[in-house]
Amino acid sequence: MGLSTAFTELFGVEHPIALAPMGGSAGGALAAAVSRGGGLGLLGSGNGDHDWLARELPILAGESAGKPWGIGFQTWAIDDGVVARALEHDPAAVMFSFGDPGPFAERVRGAGAALILQVTDMEEARRAVDLGADVIVAQGTEAGGHGARHGRSTLPFVPVVVDLAAPVPVLAAGGIADGRGVAAALALGAAGALLGTRFQATAEALVDPATAKAIVEGRGEDTERNRVLDIARGSRWPAKYTARTLGHPFLDGWRGREDELAAAPNARREYQDAVARGEIPALPRWASEAVDLIDDLPPAAELVATLAAQAEAALARAGRR
Ligand SMILES: Cc1cc2nc3c(=O)[nH]c(=O)nc-3n(C[C@H](O)[C@H](O)[C@H](O)COP(=O)(O)O)c2cc1C
Repeated sequence: MGLSTAFTELFGVEHPIALAPMGGSAGGALAAAVSRGGGLGLLGSGNGDHDWLARELPILAGESAGKPWGIGFQTWAIDDGVVARALEHDPAAVMFSFGDPGPFAERVRGAGAALILQVTDMEEARRAVDLGADVIVAQGTEAGGHGARHGRSTLPFVPVVVDLAAPVPVLAAGGIADGRGVAAALALGAAGALLGTRFQATAEALVDPATAKAIVEGRGEDTERNRVLDIARGSRWPAKYTARTLGHPFLDGWRGREDELAAAPNARREYQDAVARGEIPALPRWASEAVDLIDDLPPAAELVATLAAQAEAALARAGRR
């Protein structure tokens, strides 16, 4: 039967499911597989790195079988030229997260692409409405990867954004890793769900095997929001955003001592040396609080169909006495 929403109608997709544009790991093959599976695949271009896009965009164009797809950026890390280059490839949507999307909104709409804005608090949500977003993603703190340091939980945050944004469709994000979560998003009034961590554990994700294994074996209580690993690796993420990651020896050593770490070049060098010796992973293992629900590495198109079928079943079950 299919779950038809304002989101599926806007993009002409079969299922109310979007791939989070996870920087570096949501490459062309994964985005294309999600779109082929009937969801909306979003390429995770992060800061718009030219070489990465030159490699991944042709893969996406070649494998998406004419289905709609989009591209996502970390707003604080990009400039106008990056967006202009992406628009040359005719994405159905451009998504911005983490920072002020104001400087880019008109250019995206002018090119005929849908403007998707991910928000982590009410101030960002109001700004997204003012900028005329076509879709708003309401991200709760359960999310894997980056999000607001003082963010809101998905369950209460999504309906508040839905009410604020109506009639603009809202996608729920953060802590959704199976079809029951997708059903919950719809019950909250969202027009669908955007999933990140669940899609990290798929055949097409650009994730090293040890990280995929860590996600499959990970537990929600092992995840934690922190800035420690961003500081340790010398990343320029604004202090407003922390990231939810799996446990890490450096996190145990520096938890609560972020300022001290920032002022300790030796400690940051130790981190790089430990990476070079292969003692710690090259990147933090970003993961959702919903990581317990992930125990396989399916092909992403198959996963989209499974999530949609599970969501339909969950809604039908909930409606039965
Ligand atoms: C590994 C990873 C990388 C991410 N990178 C980005 C990114 O570059 N841009 C972005 O908009 N969101 C990024 N996110 C956040 C997602 O957009 C989304 O909000 C989140 O994955 C939803 O929560 P979930 O992981 O519980 O599904 C990332 C998430 C993960 C897990």
